[in-house]
Amino acid sequence: MIENLNKLIQIAIDNKKNSYSPYSKFRVSALVITKSGKIYKGVNIENASYSATICAERSALASCISDGHTDIEAMILTADAKDTSPCGVCRQFMAEFLDPSCKIVLANSVDDYKIYTMEELLPLSFKKDKLEEI
Ligand code: THU
Repeated sequence: MIENLNKLIQIAIDNKKNSYSPYSKFRVSALVITKSGKIYKGVNIENASYSATICAERSALASCISDGHTDIEAMILTADAKDTSPCGVCRQFMAEFLDPSCKIVLANSVDDYKIYTMEELLPLSFKKDKLEEI
């Protein structure tokens, strides 16, 4: 499994402080861990024009991809509410980069978490192979 998982979950929890969520007050934090061991953090960043909000998962992935890394080992997600899981838009965004077997840790605390695969969170996903068929 992911090395130092408890430590990484704690980093994700601590990072909730950076959430910019003045409208919902709902803090979300995500970590992307690359196969080369790099860690990228993300938080939800809300906007006065609500639909311009970006979720923590997409924020963390955007940072990782922008830094030139697509070799994703795992993601960790934590939020203020128990058992928060990625929204549909984020699942689609994640499926673009995460292998079906890639692990996603949904954490309430360092000793209360569940691990899912990308395939479990978004079965039958629409991916680029379909675009390559035409
Ligand atoms: N949010 C996330 O950051 N990730 C999700 O997967 C679900 C929702 C954020 C968006 C918004 O800032 C707040 O949570 C309430 O919807």
